[in-house]
Amino acid sequence: MNNLLEQIYKLGIIPVIKIDDVEKAVPLAKSLIDGNLSCAEITFRTSQGEEAIRRISKEFSQMLVGAGTVLTVEQVDRAIDAGAKFIVSPGINKKVVEHCINNNILIIPGCSNPTDIEMALELGLEVVKFFPAEQAGGLNYIKAISAPYTNIKFMPTGGINISNINNYLSFNKVIACGGSWMVKSELINEGSFNEITNLVKQAIATMLGFEF
Ligand code: 3PG
Repeated sequence: MNNLLEQIYKLGIIPVIKIDDVEKAVPLAKSLIDGNLSCAEITFRTSQGEEAIRRISKEFSQMLVGAGTVLTVEQVDRAIDAGAKFIVSPGINKKVVEHCINNNILIIPGCSNPTDIEMALELGLEVVKFFPAEQAGGLNYIKAISAPYTNIKFMPTGGINISNINNYLSFNKVIACGGSWMVKSELINEGSFNEITNLVKQAIATMLGFEF
């Protein structure tokens, strides 16, 4: 497995972040690190995402920072230039995936049906995002659609939280889960960074099977 995918597998959780105010980016990243989760997927859902990636990557070079909701080739280039180490997209866009592969950039595109998965396989991918996980049918659906394809693994995202993450992680074709439940925009916007740290600690404890 690709080295970055190994890191994602070891982390188990990728926090999916929407930044409305770039000034919150560095304190937010610190709150994740304080919770022992040195990873962040900063989405391009706001105009602040790119600068947030730049600031976090500069301040915390050890952090695994990725860009999410990347929809175009141009956004891939901007994200990488800002310091992103991997790219995530909600759907599978051939141009975006090929651009990443040609430039040796890890891309985890969203797939939600067998046609998407076959396109991912044809493009040479080994891991895809399964999105929106809960809404599309949850773990039972992943088990059913993955059955014909032996070599593809999933990062489910969408509707995942403390109560269902272990269910997903128990399936050997799931490498990690993405989710925003510990980094909700309201918490970031009001500067509730201690609470974010606590939610991250709770998530990690749950994943490891400890009471929190
Ligand atoms: C995403 O962008 O991948 C999802 O919106 C995250 O889903 P969640 O907010 O339900 O965790």
